[in-house]
Amino acid sequence: MSTPTAARIGIVTVSDRASKGIYEDKGGPAIHQWLQDALSSHWQPVARLIPDEEHQIERTLRDLCDNEGCCLIVTTGGTGPAKRDVTPEATEAVCQKMMPGFGELMRAVSLKSVPTAILSRQTAGIRGKTLMINLPGKPAAIAECLAAVFPAVPYCVDLIGGPRLETKPEFVKAFRPKGT
Ligand code: MTE
Repeated sequence: MSTPTAARIGIVTVSDRASKGIYEDKGGPAIHQWLQDALSSHWQPVARLIPDEEHQIERTLRDLCDNEGCCLIVTTGGTGPAKRDVTPEATEAVCQKMMPGFGELMRAVSLKSVPTAILSRQTAGIRGKTLMINLPGKPAAIAECLAAVFPAVPYCVDLIGGPRLETKPEFVKAFRPKGT
């Protein structure tokens, strides 16, 4: 019997200060833990911690898609209005197709907790067989945003030719249209 190959998932923390060690990266580990709680199928994290440099973000995203074979990338940080916040620009630069519904839903959900949710320009898009999703940098935003959009993630990954992701329904229920 062949063992199923693990779905590779990129976890990218974009932060000048965390990448310099000025503070601990809490976002990357929080995404890892959330995915661990959510997924029942075999998966493997590919983590990166980088500064808010647009070219470096683009290079990292391309590497995770084209060389590391990630079917999904989740980023945290760099989505706001500050001068150094360029994660959405880097995401758009490497994607062939944007998926604006992800950002719209995450902002709508986050707005129930904080009025500053509208300051996040977080988006999502597709490069080849990879779906990438931006989350804001605040660790509290991670569970909130992932819980909102994740029900649609496995089917999106199916549609772009990625591996079949299965979730633990008691934690998050993946929605696939009937007959798929
Ligand atoms: N979304 C949630 N769920 N929780 C938050 O605390 N913070 C907001 C917003 N979205 C926040 C949130 C704030 S204050 C900013 S500036 C933007 O995300 C951008 O954050 P980032 O630049 O760290 O990505």
